[in-house]
Amino acid sequence: MDRILGYIEQNSARYIDELKTVLAIPSISTNPENKPDIERCAAWFVNHLRSIGLDNAQTFQTPGHPIVYADWLHAPGAPTLLLYGHYDVQPADPVELWTTPPFQATTRNNRLYARGTADDKGQVFVHIKGIEAYLKIEGKLPINLKFIIEGEEEIGSDHLDLFVRDHRELLKADLVVISDTSMYGHDIPSVCYGLRGLAYMEVEVVGPNRDLHSGSFGGSVHNPIQALAEMIASLHDKSGKVTIPGFYNEVRKLTAQERSSFRKLPWSDRNYANDLGVKALYGEKGFTTLERLWARPTLECNGIWGGFTGDGAKTVLPSKASAKISMRLVPDQKAGKIASLFERHMKKIAPKGAKVTVRNLHGGEAAITPIDSPGVRAAVSAIEKGFGKKPLYQREGGSIPIVVQFKELLGLDTVLLGFGVPDENAHAPDEFMTLNNFYNGIKTVVHFYHELPQFMKGGKKG
Ligand code: BES
Ligand code: MN
Ligand code: MN
Repeated sequence: MDRILGYIEQNSARYIDELKTVLAIPSISTNPENKPDIERCAAWFVNHLRSIGLDNAQTFQTPGHPIVYADWLHAPGAPTLLLYGHYDVQPADPVELWTTPPFQATTRNNRLYARGTADDKGQVFVHIKGIEAYLKIEGKLPINLKFIIEGEEEIGSDHLDLFVRDHRELLKADLVVISDTSMYGHDIPSVCYGLRGLAYMEVEVVGPNRDLHSGSFGGSVHNPIQALAEMIASLHDKSGKVTIPGFYNEVRKLTAQERSSFRKLPWSDRNYANDLGVKALYGEKGFTTLERLWARPTLECNGIWGGFTGDGAKTVLPSKASAKISMRLVPDQKAGKIASLFERHMKKIAPKGAKVTVRNLHGGEAAITPIDSPGVRAAVSAIEKGFGKKPLYQREGGSIPIVVQFKELLGLDTVLLGFGVPDENAHAPDEFMTLNNFYNGIKTVVHFYHELPQFMKGGKKG
């Protein structure tokens, strides 16, 4: 192990240079213009996985973006780890708010800044470099490994589900590991054991059959922007609860034990509010901030548009207004059921004279991994060695929909071994990954690969 760690140390500068190369590819999955970059990025990973000594490195085409696959299966009797990550990234706009260009990775204050550093190329790279170090020094791995890196995570993993269904044998494994979440804080490593689900909706309200002069017609019909605003405003009550009938029916209650473990985590509402630049926090009454973020469902309006939004003034009573609304879900809510409750409710509360159409854009279920599972215990032990500190247990408010599919289709639990930080600016300008977490992450994963067999055998209790 010391020799592996020494190799990581000696090669750390090259690791960053290589990571910079792939961060330069704008693999934005939502943008049709970036399709060639997506292809280039997938090909880059295939070549790179091959070059570090993995077998069967290839892309699988899908009706959407390709899935990168590679494996190493020469440890008979040892457990098989399925690693999952994503090479696609969110758009970089507003580009003018970046301190340095989003696709020209730059090191500042021991951080690497670029789109995709934390989410998720940098975290995928942690594993790639850990595997490289292991293979270089030992000539073999202590476990079997299957690696998939998809290109559609940021747009809902539409084709991954079918890929997993069609390749159950290929993906057969004992455990999934995903590095695509954040640690609890800077220098506070954690294991994440829960993610929220998601139901993402688009609503259109149509009033009059054409745009109208707001002087000649104002006062005669319900303005669709007003109608939509009234509808959205009514989706929460005074106590911050979502008003859609049945919304909370399936919500799994927090246990007293979990509430008390959340309360033990270092937390300050005031610091959190200061950091976000708000005078007060908002949310469902009766729950702490961490409970609301990790274990309670929410509804957010993500965008709203309609009418005239250009420079200056135009007196118009518009024909249409629209909004994007997403709901974060918790166990045991089902995204499909919540989407239909939402649609039915929006149609019911639509004012007379407003036609409402609702589209379900995408969704996924919430996930929980048992914290006493061998994979989580191996992760705890590895983090302790990689970071020199015991990790905390935490949940996350974000979503990785494939986690539940891995459980349902392959019967596998997922360990969320995240090396990001909460203020990493994922999906925003100036996204970064700390170099400290990058290197400690690599140390962590090599310890994890090394110790996993013993934990899986039940030999090591951690
Ligand atoms: N890496 C994130 C998931 C994440 C976010 C985990 C925050 C923990 C905290 C992932 O790339 C992501 O952004 N997921 C989307 C869901 C997807 C269906 C678009 C999300 O959570 O919005
Ligand atoms: Mn991600
Ligand atoms: Mn993301």
